[in-house]
Amino acid sequence: MRSIAILNQKGGVGKTTTAVNVGAGMARTGVRVLLLDLDPQSHATMHVGVDPRDGQPGIYEVLTNGIPAADALREVAENLSVIPASIDLVGAELEIAARPERETILRRALAPLQTRFDVLLIDCPPSLGTLTINALTAVEEVLIPLQPHFLALQGLGRLLETVTLVRGVLNPTLRVSGIVLCLYEAGTRLAAEVAGDVRAFIEGSDPDDAWHGARVFDRAIRRNIKLAECPSFGQTVFDYAPHCHGAEDYAALAREILAMTTDTPDSTVVRSATADTADLPAPPAPPIEETMPQQTPDALVPSPEPGTPAIAPIDGNP
Ligand SMILES: Nc1ncnc2c1ncn2[C@@H]1O[C@H](COP(=O)(O)OP(=O)(O)OP(=O)(O)O)[C@@H](O)[C@H]1O
Ligand SMILES: [Mg+2]
Repeated sequence: MRSIAILNQKGGVGKTTTAVNVGAGMARTGVRVLLLDLDPQSHATMHVGVDPRDGQPGIYEVLTNGIPAADALREVAENLSVIPASIDLVGAELEIAARPERETILRRALAPLQTRFDVLLIDCPPSLGTLTINALTAVEEVLIPLQPHFLALQGLGRLLETVTLVRGVLNPTLRVSGIVLCLYEAGTRLAAEVAGDVRAFIEGSDPDDAWHGARVFDRAIRRNIKLAECPSFGQTVFDYAPHCHGAEDYAALAREILAMTTDTPDSTVVRSATADTADLPAPPAPPIEETMPQQTPDALVPSPEPGTPAIAPIDGNP
């Protein structure tokens, strides 16, 4: 089972939208997908039409009461199962805090499902607490959704430090495999610049860095109102509006992720489009800025020049 944590501690950048719709996009191609909602907000759970308060066991019970993960599974579509979250998960961090090996509870819980699914996608909460550490310990790959605006890069250094820490202490094979630009405003200069900065940063990484070879996906996810609407109907974008830009983008992204050779940690090797994606319309990929110097994670966090008007963070709710 390939395992991917979808993580950015910044809120509202498109983690849940990506987890759900990439999962659904993969499932539609015949891949057996397990979507794990690790966020007490339970947005992924509701997005796939499951009521987080229906009293059935979810990831909270798996983590705190030791019930088998298989008993918390719900099949929500062909090839797509979810382990739901509930608000109870807020207490899980405290409840497991005193346990020995608290960082590996999730990894051990998911082990029996290894052969039952092809891909595990974990929708992480917007924090770097114990739940997220459990996710990073349980997966091999991190996928970072990024909203390309000025403050979007803030905190990325911290995220990468956390990945590096977990990799050093708990999970030596962990790596950042991809960065996806979400809520993308095609054609804006700022979006292209931020995307260029991210690409230059990845390309300037050392081979030892956990993000070395990460792929900045060719397919950016355009801002699309259907993507914002479909969660309230408990539907993925493919069920809600199968022909909208959002469905098109997530189908292409799902194929791009599936086409990555997971054992090749070098984006320059896996960057070319696959046969599957080649027949899709040209993605709204921003140009690559070649002029950026090599950067460290901290240097990636932009500090505004005095007098430079800061661009207000977008709350992600168009
Ligand atoms: N491409 C898009 N176009 C339009 N709306 C979007 C798009 N992607 C996400 N949204 C909307 O933006 C909001 C934030 O997205 P989402 O919930 O996926 O972010 P998140 O990173 O999971 O947030 P949180 O950190 O709170 O978990 C949601 O209302 C979602 O429907
Ligand atoms: Mg979310």
